[in-house]
Amino acid sequence: MSAINSSTQDRSRLIPFSSRLKEGRALALDVWSIFSAVNLPADCINLGQGYMNFAPPKWVTTAAEQALQSVPPNHYSHPRGRIRLREAIKAFYGPQLQRDLDVESEILVTSGANEGQYSVFTAFLEQGDEVIMFEPFFDQYLPSVTFNGGKPVYVPLHPPKDSVTKPTSNDWTIDIDEVRAAVTPRTKMIIVNTPHNPIGKVFTRKELESIAAIAEEFNLLVMSDEVYDCLVFDGKEHVRIATLPGMWDRTVTVGSAGKAFAATGWRVGWLIGPQSIIQPTLAATTRIVFCTNSPLQEAAAAGLEQAKERKFFETQREEYTERRKVLSDAFDELGLKYTQPEGSYFILLDISQVKFPEDYPFPQSVLGRGRDFRACWFIAMEIGVSSIPVSEFYCEEHANIGEAYARFAFCKDLDTLREAAKRLHKLKDYLQ
Ligand SMILES: Cc1ncc(COP(=O)(O)O)c(C=O)c1O
Repeated sequence: MSAINSSTQDRSRLIPFSSRLKEGRALALDVWSIFSAVNLPADCINLGQGYMNFAPPKWVTTAAEQALQSVPPNHYSHPRGRIRLREAIKAFYGPQLQRDLDVESEILVTSGANEGQYSVFTAFLEQGDEVIMFEPFFDQYLPSVTFNGGKPVYVPLHPPKDSVTKPTSNDWTIDIDEVRAAVTPRTKMIIVNTPHNPIGKVFTRKELESIAAIAEEFNLLVMSDEVYDCLVFDGKEHVRIATLPGMWDRTVTVGSAGKAFAATGWRVGWLIGPQSIIQPTLAATTRIVFCTNSPLQEAAAAGLEQAKERKFFETQREEYTERRKVLSDAFDELGLKYTQPEGSYFILLDISQVKFPEDYPFPQSVLGRGRDFRACWFIAMEIGVSSIPVSEFYCEEHANIGEAYARFAFCKDLDTLREAAKRLHKLKDYLQ
């Protein structure tokens, strides 16, 4: 037997990695890396990735500091989450879900909504099980489903008709017959995201009822991603699908302290649902992270405990309404079409009229992708405002729908948004 000659052998790929990484775009250079601040000019205003450029409220960070000063929250928490946070979730969400939530079996704290969703997939998907998701979709769903052996099945949200001159997110519609047609004997789950990233759509009661009827008919688990539940504008009603008749038993509702308290880096989220969904998911999350970081759970608990008395979410909603206006006014002045979002913190701008030289020095990473990748790159370099190309939120077959749009995030302070609006004025030189 000859020994491996380590000096001549190619040692750069000695150990083959798991084939699951090859599916679900896990290895592809993702849009966040391409449009990350390090690749863009230093003074480019980042309206791309959806995180805030302001701090969480002081009274919430003070609670985090206090937690760090005492001993227990510096150590492992129960995998279900710290009892103070579970109690706070019960008090805050119980009335909205019209239930006396059981903190021991119906609430699970997770490391961000993302890990919670991953754990649900781990707990419930068998190899080849199908998961229906509406396109455009929050991009993490795809690898999270495929890593767990699932198969994403896409149903489009239809863009506003050309005849609609001032579209809102409500003009993006579902065709319930298409949802029904997507169901097969392998369908296990359907993901509903309301308010929606990236469209800002707040699903209507009627839409949710029609989805609920299909879930009931075909015995589907419903994952209701409601991480933007505290950002619903214009008096629109946020309906929780778990409250529709019969739906509690098959629905897991997903929340995030990151979105609620401007603390996306804290990685604290939660799942609420019946014991039959939460218990298996607890088994998965315990293996994946064991528990979520303890001090920031205490801080998230303080946030939920005090939010009502401080009218925090009401004030925050007003602030976001003003932020939305700065950006939408800029698009109005340019005469460009955009989708007025009724929830979340994104505006989809129709970029079909933005013209750019095809021989512009685009990096390799955006060449070979949709037109929207080149348009967003051009806008970032020439105008100094970054955004996210929306084809990334579609499967390959339907990417052409997304190519017409760029997503601008307005979770930034007013000064930044006003400066972005000023810069976006220059876009008029590049319109056809
Ligand atoms: C629709 C949606 N779901 C889930 C998440 C993940 O939330 P978290 O940061 O709590 O993991 C995001 C984050 O952008 C999102 O937009």
